[in-house]
Amino acid sequence: MSQVIVSHQGQSLDRPTDTQPLYRQLADQYRRAIGNGVLRPGDRMPSMRAFMQRHGVSLATATESYRVLERAALIDARPRAGYFVRAPQTAALPAASEPDLAMLPGAAQFVGIHSAISSIVATFQRYPDALNLGGATASSDLFPTDALQKAALRALRKRPTLLTAAGPDQGDPGLRAIIARRALEAGIQIASDDIIMTHGGIEAVNLALRAVTQPGDTVAVESPCFFGLLQVLESLGLRALEIPASPTTGLSVEALTFALQTHPDLKAVMVVPNLQNPLGSVMPDAHKASLVELCAGAGIALIEDDPYRELVDAAQPPRSLKAWDTDGTVIHCTSFNKSLAPGMRVGWINGGRWHPRIGMLKFAQSRHNEQLSQVVLAGFLETSAYERHLRRLRESLRIQRERMAAAVAASFPDGTRFTPPRGGMFFWIELPREVSSAAFFEAALADGIRVMPGTVFSNGGRFDHFIRLSCPDTDLERADEAIRRLGRLATRMAAHAFVP
Ligand SMILES: Cc1ncc(COP(=O)(O)O)c(C=O)c1O
Repeated sequence: MSQVIVSHQGQSLDRPTDTQPLYRQLADQYRRAIGNGVLRPGDRMPSMRAFMQRHGVSLATATESYRVLERAALIDARPRAGYFVRAPQTAALPAASEPDLAMLPGAAQFVGIHSAISSIVATFQRYPDALNLGGATASSDLFPTDALQKAALRALRKRPTLLTAAGPDQGDPGLRAIIARRALEAGIQIASDDIIMTHGGIEAVNLALRAVTQPGDTVAVESPCFFGLLQVLESLGLRALEIPASPTTGLSVEALTFALQTHPDLKAVMVVPNLQNPLGSVMPDAHKASLVELCAGAGIALIEDDPYRELVDAAQPPRSLKAWDTDGTVIHCTSFNKSLAPGMRVGWINGGRWHPRIGMLKFAQSRHNEQLSQVVLAGFLETSAYERHLRRLRESLRIQRERMAAAVAASFPDGTRFTPPRGGMFFWIELPREVSSAAFFEAALADGIRVMPGTVFSNGGRFDHFIRLSCPDTDLERADEAIRRLGRLATRMAAHAFVP
């Protein structure tokens, strides 16, 4: 592979030397560098000033070269960050299959997923050094460790009894007031007293389900569904009714409408409307509005699990379902675990018309959350640092996703399908039908790479030829190499399945 970027330092080349104008010659050099992998998706292009110095050209020539590359969809500008190499458009895989709405859910089933998950966890433990492409948390170096540490020291200096005095039942009032203010951005109008702090989003979901169901009841969930939610249903003795979900628009409101006719005993609908796990889908506003209206009309609870909203790749993240709620039908559950501080496990719940019952259940179950984390977060959120952090986090995840998408497209066999997510960290990859994700999971782990097999995202074993890959908690070079190995493995497994 030849090095194609020529440095013209010290010489003025701001004039055409070829049949092509200079800006185009320079653009072509960079086009070749991108084409042959010297510059890769996510790499930062030189700043305008560096480009001018490196090639000895004027600002007009530099700007024109970048314009050519931008028009060719090879680079794009990111506000206040500069220019970056884009993932090659030609390498895109076919979009993942849309769900078949004709195949409506059968009977609701008691969830039985614990043993499958325990066996996966036990298998992970046999390979502690494996590269983790199977998690659901961004790498810790993408979070503001130093700023949070300083906020913790400040909080303890200002309120020395934080560790020794009992706190208020619903959680720290200062943090709840900030959350209520920030909720306006998600389209939600609430008072701080409508919020109860919880141990992460998962405790919020547990409380919501306990408030609106009894053991044996049926709850509608997306299919595929985050296995952690299936585990909660199982632990509460609930049945799951799996409703098809699209890789682009999430839960099918149409299928849910049919399901409500065939299952009039449905007690709740539980949904992840923004960056669904594992699909990465975002429900369009019109679908969100109809879903809230449908549940309100049927008189059933709509449990909104919303931990990823702020990771949607948009300057203005989408609204939550709760924004359309007019009568307390929606129970909104979320946390800072995906967006700010996975180690602090601070979540909260806005219980709609079940708020008093949820308050009672939280008190009975775990009393109030510990105060230090809440006060630290309040101190951090009071400044503009959170917005800056979110912009950087979304940007880093976007770079990782583009690079991973390019690596998957280049290495996985024909028949692989994938719809790029709208943000966040998950890739829901549909492998050729012949490849079993359970076998793929075992073989990948033996090769030192963790992935999540599709089987655990359904109670009915529906997704055996899918895997969930996540952005890596390591450097991108290592992840590229791992994805190439996974691609070779999938290619071998797909080919092997055809051997008579
Ligand atoms: C959809 C969804 N809900 C809830 C959770 C758990 O959230 P927390 O870590 O805030 O308890 C996760 C974590 O992976 C998730 O993906």
